[in-house]
Amino acid sequence: MSDSLSFTRKEFPFLRRQIDGNQIIYLDSASTAPKPQCVIDAVAQVYNDTTANVHRGIHTIADEATTAYENARREIASFLNASPSEIIFTRNATEGINIVANGMRLLPDDEVVLTVAEHHSNYLPWRLRAKVVPVGLSPDGLPLYQDVESVLSPRTKLLTLAHVSNTTGIIAPVEQWVENAHRRGHPVLIDASQSASHLPLDVRTMDCDFLVLSGHKLMGPSGTGILYGKRERLANLSLYQSGGGMVRYHGEARFEVQDVPQRFEAGTPNIEGAIGLGVAVAWLRNLGMSKVLAHSQSLGAQLFEGLSTIPGIRIVASSAPIEKRIGLVSFNLDTPGFSQDSLARLLCDRYQILVGGGYHCAHILHHRLGLDGTLRISTQLFNTHEEIEIVLSALRELTSGTNCR
Ligand SMILES: Cc1ncc(COP(=O)(O)O)c(C=O)c1O
Repeated sequence: MSDSLSFTRKEFPFLRRQIDGNQIIYLDSASTAPKPQCVIDAVAQVYNDTTANVHRGIHTIADEATTAYENARREIASFLNASPSEIIFTRNATEGINIVANGMRLLPDDEVVLTVAEHHSNYLPWRLRAKVVPVGLSPDGLPLYQDVESVLSPRTKLLTLAHVSNTTGIIAPVEQWVENAHRRGHPVLIDASQSASHLPLDVRTMDCDFLVLSGHKLMGPSGTGILYGKRERLANLSLYQSGGGMVRYHGEARFEVQDVPQRFEAGTPNIEGAIGLGVAVAWLRNLGMSKVLAHSQSLGAQLFEGLSTIPGIRIVASSAPIEKRIGLVSFNLDTPGFSQDSLARLLCDRYQILVGGGYHCAHILHHRLGLDGTLRISTQLFNTHEEIEIVLSALRELTSGTNCR
């Protein structure tokens, strides 16, 4: 098994971090991803050289800052095959979803179709405003995506789903949902928080109406996110926040709001964050997202197959085929004496292997499966097959009561 992207490891200073004198193995990128040096440098450069507000100042440095900020928007648009005017900078994916949920003027009886595997951020904003209607779930935790048509009704207003689930690591059939929704005139919002750093995205091919992503999972700075929307869909959303930057004219008698995207970017944005995110996606595009996907799936297959052979391990959505998986697997361990949290802690304290533990903001999925949390191993392009072998050995040792490191 080749590690075709292992040359990128040197770009991530964080991967050199040690705990107790041992180098860490980072397998928690679904929570947040380390940043390559070029992103760190881009953020530092804004502070060192280009500290000025955007779309406001009338001096050379303000022009430079505005150009860098808008270039970042263009980079992100190219990454998604969108137009820059369809790209809104947000604080995170959560804010992007809230902008849409707030802007659709939903009524309590309106229905939003989703899956019970959605992250809280793609569940609660809908639940607070409308009735959520999930598709069914298989006994092992795989949403019955194919049944979407059976839950659509005259009250359906929107369909939404994670492109890749942050708990199962399964790539959803978004095209099928979009086709079903569009046949009836409903919009679709894709939550690409977990997919954007693992597989190529093309909003034109997907034909989704909205798509959100989270900058920090995409190796960009924290406090950044993107809301993509088709222009007419964005223009129909009611305002989210108001203030400086989103208004074209403000007189005593009336005010005039800017067009999208500025319409949804009230206040001073996270300038250095947006610029850093632009650098992150340019870096990823340069590596080639098809290569990134191939590596993610190769790590995912090794992980899934290895975990499947360890007695007591129950993998969430184990029935999904290997070609629908990225390098992310969640599982529960039926071994007396271990909670999911204690196992995650042991992996860190004894082996310096960092993984996720708990509900991963997907309480409803866990409740439906009767699980008191799961352990999540999530890879990123810099992880190697050797690292997967180390975590599998560690789990074999912990579950059989022996010790190796
Ligand atoms: C699938 C999914 N959607 C949404 C989010 C929310 O992302 P953020 O916290 O960056 O808004 C996450 C974060 O874990 C996620 O995994």
